[in-house]
Amino acid sequence: MSRVLMVTAEATPFVKTGGLADVLGALPPALAGIGEEVCVVMPRYGSTSLRGEERILHELPLTVGPHTFTAAIDEVQREGVRYLFVDCPLLYGRGGVYNEGGVDYPDNHLRFAALNQAALEIARSIFTPDIFHAHDWPAGLLAPYLRETRAADSSLQSAKCVMTIHNLGYQGLFPRSQLGDIGLSRLFHPEGLEFWGQINYLKAGIVWSDAVTTVSPAYAQEIQTPEYGFGLDGVLRARAAKITGILNGADYAEWNPEHDPHLRRRYSARNLSGKRFAKQALLKELGLPLNLKRPLIGIVSRFADQKGFDLVAEVADQLAAEDLALVVLGSGERRFESMFRALAHSHPAKVYARIGYDNGLAHRIEAGADMFLMPSRYEPCGLSQLYSLRYGTVPIVRATGGLEDTVDESTGFKFHDYSADALLDSVQRALAAWQDRKSWLERMRRGMARDFSWEASAAAYQRLYRSL
Ligand code: ADP
Ligand code: GLC
Repeated sequence: MSRVLMVTAEATPFVKTGGLADVLGALPPALAGIGEEVCVVMPRYGSTSLRGEERILHELPLTVGPHTFTAAIDEVQREGVRYLFVDCPLLYGRGGVYNEGGVDYPDNHLRFAALNQAALEIARSIFTPDIFHAHDWPAGLLAPYLRETRAADSSLQSAKCVMTIHNLGYQGLFPRSQLGDIGLSRLFHPEGLEFWGQINYLKAGIVWSDAVTTVSPAYAQEIQTPEYGFGLDGVLRARAAKITGILNGADYAEWNPEHDPHLRRRYSARNLSGKRFAKQALLKELGLPLNLKRPLIGIVSRFADQKGFDLVAEVADQLAAEDLALVVLGSGERRFESMFRALAHSHPAKVYARIGYDNGLAHRIEAGADMFLMPSRYEPCGLSQLYSLRYGTVPIVRATGGLEDTVDESTGFKFHDYSADALLDSVQRALAAWQDRKSWLERMRRGMARDFSWEASAAAYQRLYRSL
């Protein structure tokens, strides 16, 4: 058994902007379930919902470069895991996690530097770990800060550091002028924090961690190529020996049509009548014609460049000309919000678009849709396709990263080239396959039987911790 201290910017059910939060809500309890002792450190934002169950543990002094802060540490215990919240309103007491109104907070470098200093303070005074496990760029400075303090601190001397990359597209890049704020000037060189003249938090984490993981085996390979490496492929190739891909799991306690509280009728592979009902209810809720014969395609996503909606934009009118309905839930880049809004406006009987974030509706789309579209340019793992498989909603995906690893032609439809024609072709193949009801049901049931539960992934992390 090891003691694992994880650092993250988000975790369900407390705060979520994407799949990272789902992972930090599910992996720690899964590790606890196989005997690891896990503590998760994250900020307490203005929007963090703690429902008053927290216990205030400590007041900690935080030093970040020349700055000092005081933070209270609030604790919530959940499914055998200690979630510790760094409560420092000056840094985190705001509405957003990283940004507001699409604009990043100007002190993000300081906010997430302080988070890692808080984690090290916690390691000294509250929870001494064998393993530090950093998630994404907000935890990138954990390894360099650990390295800087380790010599002076005997309790942390043998601790190892694991860095998990959930998305290489977000690296935590800051101007060199902010170096003084974080107190790591000594490490600003090309083999360390420096990246084309800027400060790069994720690179620092990659360089100084003992092991690096990504969230699918395919993505672990892809990030070592120029096409997917976001400029860090060389750094990663040079460290190929310490990189592994561990596929995310799906949290079936939260995403399961057999007991989903967001559905009025539950269903399973043995009894699919509830799925038909879910489709009907969804069409009704969104004001689309109640045509159950017409296949319904769902999209639930952040609207980021990564997700491939520029391909949808290219063939939007051709898609809308097919005999289908399309339901879209998402928010992010304005160009995609406008594109989907306009599409819904010109095809009101076929296309519905909700710009925003709505967890209940996300569940009802997973259940009510017949197909789920993820044309990602790149996808480190992707969770929505795992949910779709479990809900009997056939995924149509671009074969990249975790989509490549989790969907095959017997459970879904895949296209390889990142092109609008390839996307259109695979949607048309799905629409043609839909006509054969019997084989469609078989395809749905095969997907529903696939098991991506967290146990296997947690065991893989456990093996990695032990190997260190
Ligand atoms: P990413 O982390 O890159 O956004 P994932 O597929 O790993 O992609 O995870 C996305 C998660 O966020 C899923 O749980 C999905 O249901 C949820 N999600 C994304 N957009 C929305 C939205 N607009 N409303 C509700 N949930 C959303
Ligand atoms: C990132 C990736 C997504 C992955 C998630 C959780 O947000 O974009 O593919 O599933 O992290 O690891």
